Amino acid sequence: MGRRNKLKKFNDLLSFTNVYENYDPTNPRLIANENTVVDLKGKWRSEHFKNDNPLVLELACGRGEYTLALGEANPEINYMGLDVKGARIWQGATRAIHQELNNVAFLRTRIEQIGLFFGENEVDEIWITFPDPFLRESKENRRLTSQPFLDRFRPILKAGGIINLKTDDPTLYEFTQETFAACDFLDVIYDRDDIYNQPLDFPELEYKTYYENMHLEKGRKIKFLQAKLKK
Ligand SMILES: C[S@@+](CC[C@H](N)C(=O)[O-])C[C@H]1O[C@@H](n2cnc3c(N)ncnc32)[C@H](O)[C@@H]1O
Repeated sequence: MGRRNKLKKFNDLLSFTNVYENYDPTNPRLIANENTVVDLKGKWRSEHFKNDNPLVLELACGRGEYTLALGEANPEINYMGLDVKGARIWQGATRAIHQELNNVAFLRTRIEQIGLFFGENEVDEIWITFPDPFLRESKENRRLTSQPFLDRFRPILKAGGIINLKTDDPTLYEFTQETFAACDFLDVIYDRDDIYNQPLDFPELEYKTYYENMHLEKGRKIKFLQAKLKK
């Protein structure tokens, strides 16, 4: 994508009422549309969604296909897609506006900063869809299912809240099996190394993201893990 096209999308994002941004780790201010500074930590339901429905996050949402599909299927649940890349979020946010999905919003930030923007027990469920596997061992702690990230998710997730990982990558899958099993506040409740070799146990597994479609074209097997927060 050309630089001008990207800049136009970044500029558009500032006018979207379904997008919030913070990409400066040294300055944890949340920017809403028209450059307004807001504080929605612990208040997403009441201040943004204006309801008391559950709140579900998709992390590393890219273009937000999962967030949109879940939001369309479940209008009584609030969904937020988080990613650091503005041009990708632009695509999801634009579709949400066109489809009038008022239960869908996006936050452009690094997931490392998630604790700055969500309050204690504010989140009901987390989806992590095809995250970068960071295959070099020296980068293990950048994997979104590594212990440092699980420690960030713990306070914001309700007791009984679920973390879902959908991935094509065998290294990330096995790594996550190990981190979930070793984590004293999680119970693994579902684990499949090839979800499409049998009828799907959950209808939402049918939704496919941009990256999932690429992996399927290459014949890769899709893996799915679910863990529940004990607290
Ligand atoms: C491989 S893409 C997957 C995107 C989407 N879930 C899909 O399946 O099409 C990984 C995404 O994770 C985002 N990402 C990686 N590390 C991140 C981080 N620490 N914080 C926020 N986003 C991150 C990237 O910007 C990218 O959009």
